[in-house]
Amino acid sequence: MTTSPALDARALRADFPIFERPSHGKPLAFLDSAASSQKPRQMLDAMRDFYETSYANVHRGVYELAERATEGLETAREKVRALVNAPSAREVIFVRNATEGINLVAYAWGLRNLGPGDLVVVTELEHHSNFVPWQFIANRTGAGFALIPLDHQGELRLDALDGIAATGRVKVVATGVVSNSLGTVNPVERLAVWAHEQGAIMVADAAQAAPHRKVDVQALGCDFLAISAHKMCGPSGVGALWGRAELLESMDPFLVGGHMIRSVKADETTWGELPHKFEAGTAPMAEAVGFGAAIDYLDEIGFDAIERWEHELAAYALDQLAELPWVSSYGPPASRRAGIVSFNVEGVHPHDVAQVLDFEGVAIRAGHHCCQPLMKKLGVAATNRASFYLYTVPEEIDRLVAGLHVARKAFA
Ligand SMILES: Cc1ncc(COP(=O)(O)O)c(C=O)c1O
Repeated sequence: MTTSPALDARALRADFPIFERPSHGKPLAFLDSAASSQKPRQMLDAMRDFYETSYANVHRGVYELAERATEGLETAREKVRALVNAPSAREVIFVRNATEGINLVAYAWGLRNLGPGDLVVVTELEHHSNFVPWQFIANRTGAGFALIPLDHQGELRLDALDGIAATGRVKVVATGVVSNSLGTVNPVERLAVWAHEQGAIMVADAAQAAPHRKVDVQALGCDFLAISAHKMCGPSGVGALWGRAELLESMDPFLVGGHMIRSVKADETTWGELPHKFEAGTAPMAEAVGFGAAIDYLDEIGFDAIERWEHELAAYALDQLAELPWVSSYGPPASRRAGIVSFNVEGVHPHDVAQVLDFEGVAIRAGHHCCQPLMKKLGVAATNRASFYLYTVPEEIDRLVAGLHVARKAFA
C-alpha cells in the first residue's frame, strides 16, 4: 500500500506557463506528453538562476564561479543517481537524450563485444531509438538480430524466448520499460534475469518510464538504462545513461576530444575516469541543472501519485473510446499500461483526426510514433496517440472525444 497523497492536476497546471496561452482561441488540451512534456516554472527558474548567478564552464576553472557551475552540474548528477537508485554517481553519464545514451552502449560496448554467432534481441514494440542502433551495430559486427514478438494485446511473448535463444548466443537484450505507442509496461525484471542466464547484458530504455513511475536500476536488474530530461519536465538537450561501472570501465569511449582524457601525447591518448571518459566536450551544464530541478519537482509530487493519476486517466480514456464503435484502440488493458492510448477512427486518416483536434485546441500525435515494426504488427500505417501527464485533467479527454465526433462527421 502506498501512502503518498493524491495528485491535484488542476493545481499543478498553474506551474506550467504554457497553459496560459490559448491554442486556436481555446484553452490548450495538451495530450502529447509522451513526445515531450511541458515545463514547470520551477525548472525554468532554476535554469535562469544558473545562467544569471553561476554560469561558467565546468571542470576547468579554479575560480569561484567555475566551481559553483561545476557544483551545479555534479549536484544534478547526484539527483539523477538518486532518481534511478544507481549505486554511484560515477555511473551516471550526461548525454543529449536517451537515443544518444543507447547509441553510446551500442557503439562502445557492441563494437567491442559482438561478432558472428552472437545475437542481439530487441522487441517488436521497440521505439526506433532502441531498435535501429542495435540493428546497425549487429549488421556491422556480423551478429544476428532478433525480435521478441507481441501477443494480440501488445504484450511481450516471453514464451518465445527459448526459440530465440536457440538461434544464436544472446549477448544483448534491449527493451523499453514502457512502450511509447501502446503504453505497455514491459517485464524488464524477468527479461533481465533471462538475459543474464544467457550471458547477455540487459539494456533498458526508460525514456517513457522515468517520467511516470519509479525507475530503479537495481530492482530492474538491468546493466544500462537511458532516460531523456525533456519527457519529464526538464529541458531538451540533456539525458542520462546509467551503466554498471565495471562495464563502463571495460568499454572504449564513444565520443572523443576535450575533457574525457587523462593524458594526450603525439603517440597515445589515455582516458579519464568515469563518468568523464564518456563526456567529451563542454557539458550541458545549464540543462543538467534544469534536469535536476525537474527531478526535484517530480519527487515532490511523488512518482506513486503520478503513476496512479495517469492510470486513472488511461482507464477513463479507454472507457470513453470504447463507447465509440467506430474507434479501435490498441494495447493492453488500463491495468497494465501507462498513460498512453493509441487508437484509430474508422475511415479517417490519423493526420486528419489530429488536424481536426488541433482546431479544437487539442494536441495529440498522429503517425508511426517511431515504431514502424509495431505498426506493421498492428496492420496499420499510423495511429493517433493521446498521452497524459501529471497536469492532464479528465476534461481534456472529454474534449478529445468531442473532437473525434467532429472528425468523423467531417471525414468518414
Ligand atoms: C520509448 C522511447 N525510447 C526512446 C525515445 C527517444 O527519446 P529521445 O528522442 O529523447 O532520445 C523515446 C521518445 O519518444 C521513447 O518514447
